[in-house]
Amino acid sequence: MLLDLHGLAARRRVVLVGGKGGVGKTSVASAVALAQARAGRRVLVVSTDPAHNLGHLWQRTVGDDVARLADEAPGHLDGVEIDPERTTAAHLSAVRATLRRLMPEHLGGEVDRHLDLAHDAPGMHEAAILERVADLVQRGTADYDLVVLDTAPSGHTARLLSLPETMGAWTDGLLRRRDRSDRLGAAAQMLGGRGEATARRDAEIRSVLTRRRERFAHLRDVLTDHEACTFVVVLAAERLPVLETVELTRRLTGLGVAVGGLVVNKRSPADAGELLAARHAAEASHLATLRTELPDVPMREVPLLARDVVGREALERLGDLLA
Ligand SMILES: Nc1ncnc2c1ncn2[C@@H]1O[C@H](COP(=O)(O)OP(=O)(O)OP(=O)(O)O)[C@@H](O)[C@H]1O
Ligand SMILES: [Mg+2]
Repeated sequence: MLLDLHGLAARRRVVLVGGKGGVGKTSVASAVALAQARAGRRVLVVSTDPAHNLGHLWQRTVGDDVARLADEAPGHLDGVEIDPERTTAAHLSAVRATLRRLMPEHLGGEVDRHLDLAHDAPGMHEAAILERVADLVQRGTADYDLVVLDTAPSGHTARLLSLPETMGAWTDGLLRRRDRSDRLGAAAQMLGGRGEATARRDAEIRSVLTRRRERFAHLRDVLTDHEACTFVVVLAAERLPVLETVELTRRLTGLGVAVGGLVVNKRSPADAGELLAARHAAEASHLATLRTELPDVPMREVPLLARDVVGREALERLGDLLA
C-alpha cells in the first residue's frame, strides 16, 4: 500500500514521527507540518529530541518557547524545542515548591536534599520531558489543529510512550494510599485528633496528584485514539534499521498506538552509476523483508537528494515527494 502522508496527516490531530538517529525524522516532521499549514491548518511542531535541529532546518533560533516558523494565512506553523535541562529544572522546582508547601517546615532541608539527588536520578529527564510533552499535547490540541511530534531515536520513544501507563499507575497507587489516610484522617478528626491544617494539606496533595494523573491519562487517550493520532516511522533501507522498524512497529501497536505509515528515506537511485545501482538492489531486498513483516502498513520511498534539507524551499520539495 502506498502511503499518502499528507492525506493521513490531514485527518489527524497528532502525528508522531520516529525512527533511528539521522534517518530524516526532523525533515519529514517539518515537511508534513509545513504542508498542513499551507493547507490552512494551525500547526505546532514539537521537537522532543535532546539533540535538536529544528532551528538548523529552519535557519533560525527555535528554543523552549514557541516560535513562528511560517505564516500561511489562514494557516500557520509554530515550532518548539523541548530543552531537557530546563524542563527537568522547572519540573523539580515545581515539585520542590509543592512539597515545601505541603510538608511540615522542619522537613524542608530533607526535601531539598532529596530533590538535589533526584536531578541526576535515572529516568528523571525522561519523566520531566514526558510531563512537558503531556502539557504541550494538551495545550497544543486545544490551540492548534495539528500537533506534529518529532521524537527522539526509537528505543527512547517506545519507552516514552509506555510512561503514561507506568506513571499513571504510580500516581494511582499514591492516590489509593491517600484515600486510606484520608479516611483514617477523617476518623481521627472526629475524635478530635487531627488539625484542620493537616486536612487541608491532604486535600491539596490529593488534588496535585489528581491533576497529574489527568494529564497523563489525556496523553495516553490521545496517543491511542486511532482517529486522532498516528505514528510515522522514518527509516533507511538497510538491514538493521528494517529489523528495528519491525520491532518498533510491533511495540507501538502493542501499546495501542496506530502506526499509519513508513517513510523509507534516502533511497539510492538505480540509474546513477554501478555503486548506487548495487546499493539500490541491496535496499530492495531489505524492503522486501519489510513488506513481508509489515504487509498492512502503507509505505513510501523518498529518494536520496543531492543536498541536505535546509530551509523552506527544500522542505516544500520534500513535502512534494511525500504527497
Ligand atoms: N532524502 C534525503 N536526501 C538527502 N539528505 C537528506 C534526506 N532527508 C534528510 N536528509 C539529511 O539528512 C540529515 C539528517 O536529517 P534529519 O535531521 O531530518 O534526521 P533526524 O532523524 O531528525 O536526525 P536526529 O536523529 O539526529 O534528530 C540532514 O542533514 C538532512 O538534511
Ligand atoms: Mg532530528
